[in-house]
Amino acid sequence: MKHIILPVLIVAMTLTSCSASKIFCNQQNEWTTITNGNLWLTKNGDTVQAHAPGFLKIKETWYMIGEDRSREWRPDVNLYSSKDLQNWTFEKKIIENGVTSPELGTRRMIERAKLLYNKKTKRYVVWCHWESSNYGASEAACFSSDKIDGTYRLEWSGRPLGIKSRDCNVFVDTDGTAYFISTTEENQHLGLFRLSEDYLSVVEHTRLFPWQRREAPAIVKLGNKYFMFSSACTGWAPNQCKLSWSENLKEGWSPLENIGDNKAFRTQPAAILEIKGTKTTTFLYVGDRWKDPNLAQSKTIIFPVSFTETSCDFQYRNSFEINFKTGEWREEK
Ligand code: DGJ
Repeated sequence: MKHIILPVLIVAMTLTSCSASKIFCNQQNEWTTITNGNLWLTKNGDTVQAHAPGFLKIKETWYMIGEDRSREWRPDVNLYSSKDLQNWTFEKKIIENGVTSPELGTRRMIERAKLLYNKKTKRYVVWCHWESSNYGASEAACFSSDKIDGTYRLEWSGRPLGIKSRDCNVFVDTDGTAYFISTTEENQHLGLFRLSEDYLSVVEHTRLFPWQRREAPAIVKLGNKYFMFSSACTGWAPNQCKLSWSENLKEGWSPLENIGDNKAFRTQPAAILEIKGTKTTTFLYVGDRWKDPNLAQSKTIIFPVSFTETSCDFQYRNSFEINFKTGEWREEK
């Protein structure tokens, strides 16, 4: 009798714990289901406000910063954390419009905030698009803090090397050199700006994709090859995502190639995440589904992408499963 009761008891206890906690289940089966199309909520049930997100992984934790669009046209920057890109904890508001550095203006369009960690200075660094209401300022700003959830102080703001700069992202190369990349000169080109060793200023500019009017750039490196995703400039309306690759960040980028459908599955690129596991590495595309139906309710969309030597399989998935331990992904069961 004892032999029968014990296994039954163990199964019952496991089932109870699983239904009580999604996270416990994830730890048990190590597969997390990611479903697109809905607003993300924090553990407290609040809407996650971190649009055009930037990510930084520290040990097992993903940190995400992005635009808080609750007050649609007066964005702040929020910081969240998660272990599975699904269960998010609100950490803090790291930039408050008009309160953080009011000398920079009290009604700025603060967009596309991205997060870096500088190993030498041990500081967390934020770069973002720091704009006026008519997008005429075309400026960027840089903040830094000694703790990820500390006080971010203003380091610099203005036009990088005097160049008009809008949509932006950051990229850290394997040797630790960091770049700020932005749409320059009235949306005509992309500017690749090498950052100083402390990541707090811009020291060199290389013009990429001249006259091709690209924005929302996101770079990922595979081996010795860089792949760049970008969109055209159509305001908040989605458009064709294009891909280019090169073995040198500063030159030799391949002609822009259409990937996915002609609206990037109603998204605009924000980031490419690398899920490096014990068995394989999966790359996740992160994009914004803007104004769905308003800015505050814009959705964050994630799906796996894979690369060939010169291209990328860019297919939307409404739902998929990812194993953060092994790095594998699979269709939802
Ligand atoms: C598209 C950009 O990617 C967004 O970040 C934002 O600047 C809008 N344009 C504004 O129209």
